[in-house]
Amino acid sequence: MNKKNPQHLACFDLEQWASRRKSISRSLLKWYHSTARDLPWRHSPDPYRIWVSEIMLQQTQVERVKDYFHRFVKKFPTVFDLAEAEEAVVLKYWEGLGYYRRARQLHAAANIIVSDYEGIFPQDACALRKLPGVGRYTAGAIASIAFDLPEPILEANSRRVLARLIHYDTPLSGNKDDQPLWDVAGAIVPRDGGAGAFNQALMDLGSVICTPVSPLCEECPLAEHCEAYRVGSVDRIPNVPARKSSKKIKEKAYVFTHKGKLLVVRRQPGEWWEGLWDFPRDIPHQVAARGRHRHLGVIDYGITNHKVTCQIVSKLISQRPAARRHQRWLSPQEIQKLPMTSPGRRIALLAEKSFFRES
Ligand code: ADE
Repeated sequence: MNKKNPQHLACFDLEQWASRRKSISRSLLKWYHSTARDLPWRHSPDPYRIWVSEIMLQQTQVERVKDYFHRFVKKFPTVFDLAEAEEAVVLKYWEGLGYYRRARQLHAAANIIVSDYEGIFPQDACALRKLPGVGRYTAGAIASIAFDLPEPILEANSRRVLARLIHYDTPLSGNKDDQPLWDVAGAIVPRDGGAGAFNQALMDLGSVICTPVSPLCEECPLAEHCEAYRVGSVDRIPNVPARKSSKKIKEKAYVFTHKGKLLVVRRQPGEWWEGLWDFPRDIPHQVAARGRHRHLGVIDYGITNHKVTCQIVSKLISQRPAARRHQRWLSPQEIQKLPMTSPGRRIALLAEKSFFRES
């Protein structure tokens, strides 16, 4: 790290960055063309595949997305296939990826693209942003990667690169704001071709060189332009506010069983995991107390900023009550086919192990 010159320039002078656009993109693209990660969504310029990948990548790490992406585009190879699918099937192919609203919005947006655009993606960032689930980042990513339009992007990795580049030491405010970073991203994105590669290169640079801890500045193609590097502040920038501590919750989940079938419930609008299936919680005391019960185990899981400890209790029901709306009595094999919440899937495995394999 360069500590020679302690005096730093906070460089929010956009004209100055725009004047370095060609030099920055030349260095970055040269680096990218020799080191680009081989990611499955980079094999085709199909906007549909790029859109699916960008939605998956919004809150999930690249390595985790790869398999989901393969399975998803194999099942739904075009926007028409996705639009025609039932939401439960789309959720099934999203199961385990988390943030299921993304899948519901993807499905809703596929229907809009088919009904309003005859299945052809709009080719500008403003129209893209009107689609459900497409914010400023995703619109910029699709417009630049699929259509090579000079649109900026800002996500976790490129935000760190740009914050260091311009010595932006204001506390980062989240994914929406940080306007100076959006401005500089817009000033340096190439105007005459290569915007998609440039944006992906920024993300790769943040992921493999300009890392949060111990960045490899000596190997960085942008070191000569980097203000944080010049003044030796790389380890203080970006200025990331401490995370709010998570809230601890205790809950009980019930596995009601009757003649080899288990009661599952569908999560309702307004609940976590809307549209996915799970085992009942918060059962009234009188109902929970009825019948023989058995302690199956405890699982811990995280959801948003909550840490949940969930005790799992099973109950054999001698007379099966009729399933209400959003409830079903199903065999473990049938439950396998449902889109389940991640704790629900773990509970189903525990239940299956304890009832159907051992006894
Ligand atoms: N993160 C979000 N979009 C990405 C992309 N296209 N390549 C690599 N990482 C990403």
